[in-house]
Amino acid sequence: MKGLFITFEGPDGSGKSTQLQLLAEKLTNDGLEPLVTREPGGTYISDKIRALLLDPEHKGMIHQTEVLLYAASRAQHVHEKIIPALQQNRIVLCDRYIDASIAYQAYGLGIDLDVVSLISQFASSGLKPSRSYFMDLPVELSRERLLSRNGGATGAGLDRIEQRDENYHSRVRQGFLNIAASEPERVKLVKADRPAHVIAEEIAEDFVKLYTPGLRS
Ligand code: TYD
Repeated sequence: MKGLFITFEGPDGSGKSTQLQLLAEKLTNDGLEPLVTREPGGTYISDKIRALLLDPEHKGMIHQTEVLLYAASRAQHVHEKIIPALQQNRIVLCDRYIDASIAYQAYGLGIDLDVVSLISQFASSGLKPSRSYFMDLPVELSRERLLSRNGGATGAGLDRIEQRDENYHSRVRQGFLNIAASEPERVKLVKADRPAHVIAEEIAEDFVKLYTPGLRS
């Protein structure tokens, strides 16, 4: 398949969405028309599944349901939106993907890693990103940033996953670090406790090495 598939990952509050937007702006200014999308979500059906997953009222959702809903959202998104864009030779920038299921569901919830991998592979028909940028930040810092954006210490605006405790989020961070260590070719670990423009430059420099002129402009 042509095109270039790039993902952004990291804990909630790590600044990954900001970095994705900054790279998207740069590519747009360069005339490259990237497709910007996100998980869970990205299509009409996937956005409905996102709402089910993140609703803080859905405290009764069991772990298996959570894994399968993330995968269901992904299946629809990959086949309806990402693969067609790559077939048109486009650059796709996606906010979260399979690594999030490994970190949040396998490491975070303690679900068998092979099970989560297999389900994710089925959902995505094996589509892997060419590069994944992992924003890394100590858990206390990412929680602080998240809370300051969402109603202070009460965390009133947090979604169902963000509401989980600090131990859960420490396991998620460790999950991301483990994936990064096991796939250094694909994953670029980015220290996220620096000014946004410094991080953006580092990502842009790395991106240039991946980019093959001739992708759609
Ligand atoms: P995200 O879009 O990053 O949240 P926000 O819009 O607040 O930036 O992701 C929503 C949540 O879903 C986030 O807490 C991470 C979680 N998530 C999983 O647990 N597993 C997954 O496979 C994905 C894609 C996300």
